[in-house]
Amino acid sequence: MPSVFPQPVVAQLTRAAIFLVVTINSGKENEAAVRASCGDLAALQRAVGFRDLEGRLSCVMAFGSDAWDRLFGAPKPKDLHSFHEIRGQHHAVSTPGDILFHIRSTRMDLCFELATQIMSRLGSAVSTADEVHGFKYFDDRDLIGFVDGTENPVDQAALDATIIGEEDGVFAGGSYVIVQKYLHDLNGWNALPIEEQERIIGRTKLSDIELDDALKPSSAHNALTTIIEDGEQLEIVRDNMPFGDVGKGEFGTYFIGYARSPGRIEQMLENMFVGRPPGNYDRLLDFSRAVTGTLFFVPSANFLEDVTTGEAQSTADPTSKEPEVEGKFRLRLSPSDGSLGIGSLKKEAGYE
Ligand code: HEM
Repeated sequence: MPSVFPQPVVAQLTRAAIFLVVTINSGKENEAAVRASCGDLAALQRAVGFRDLEGRLSCVMAFGSDAWDRLFGAPKPKDLHSFHEIRGQHHAVSTPGDILFHIRSTRMDLCFELATQIMSRLGSAVSTADEVHGFKYFDDRDLIGFVDGTENPVDQAALDATIIGEEDGVFAGGSYVIVQKYLHDLNGWNALPIEEQERIIGRTKLSDIELDDALKPSSAHNALTTIIEDGEQLEIVRDNMPFGDVGKGEFGTYFIGYARSPGRIEQMLENMFVGRPPGNYDRLLDFSRAVTGTLFFVPSANFLEDVTTGEAQSTADPTSKEPEVEGKFRLRLSPSDGSLGIGSLKKEAGYE
């Protein structure tokens, strides 16, 4: 079975990150420019990352639903759609975004340099919708003072939670990611007694121990985001980062969650914003407002490397009923290209 390489979705957690969301400007030439940049990402990351290998620089590139249609057409990852806003006790907004770059390193200067190189490569083809520079805060705490990330799955469990397998064979090795930028009312939060904060999160604040079931309300954040299906917990991998602007009184958490299906993250959001049962919502949201919300698909690294740079090439089977989509990508493969070896993917996708 030929190998497919995922992008570094489950990269080790780092002390710095840049979350860059861009939209593609209108015009075929801009779409072509974006396609042309896909195959360069790995080289840019290598060039910047090599300056300090201990900096563990990594970058994930992901595409929104509309952008996928414009850039690649069919076939499309089966669960890729625009982020659905949720109106419950609180509002989860849906905001624009065609491409997400999630850049991580132990050093912010490496993140900054890679973001600069990526944006200079993309030039006038894109406009920035949102850019957040995140940092780790003391013992991996968020700005509300709780350790964030403790229950993340690791190693094989992290891969199992995030990387698509046979359920969407053409896109095996891919993943889905949802991002939301939250702003905290820190004055309101800090005015709460610590025991009340702990009941909201479901863990102790200083020692980060999960509350006993007898003490933990069913509305606790870690209760509402625990989803069990057929006796199995449906996990996601989070890499939230604090960010802020002290002068503006802005204190935030950038939520980023990866999963092999967006449904499980959407279910968590439904539980948080609407409640489980409805009305039993996440009190963290009384002090944290979501100001962005976007869903992206993370193709495999092989896919990115093999996006052709030029005009749309029709490579579909002439007998196929599938309509020609302008901008369709072509998976380049030669059996001699041992490093990629994605023959079966290409075949399943119907490309020659
Ligand atoms: C303001 C934004 C958020 C903050 C400050 C926050 C903070 C936290 C904290 C402190 C924990 C407990 C420690 C841990 O296990 O990581 C936690 C757990 C968790 N959060 Fe969040 N979170 C936020 C948003 C979200 C969102 C939007 C989701 C999903 C849609 C989510 C999903 C989870 C999950 C799955 C857990 C682990 C539950 C468990 O298995 O115990 N969080 N979060």
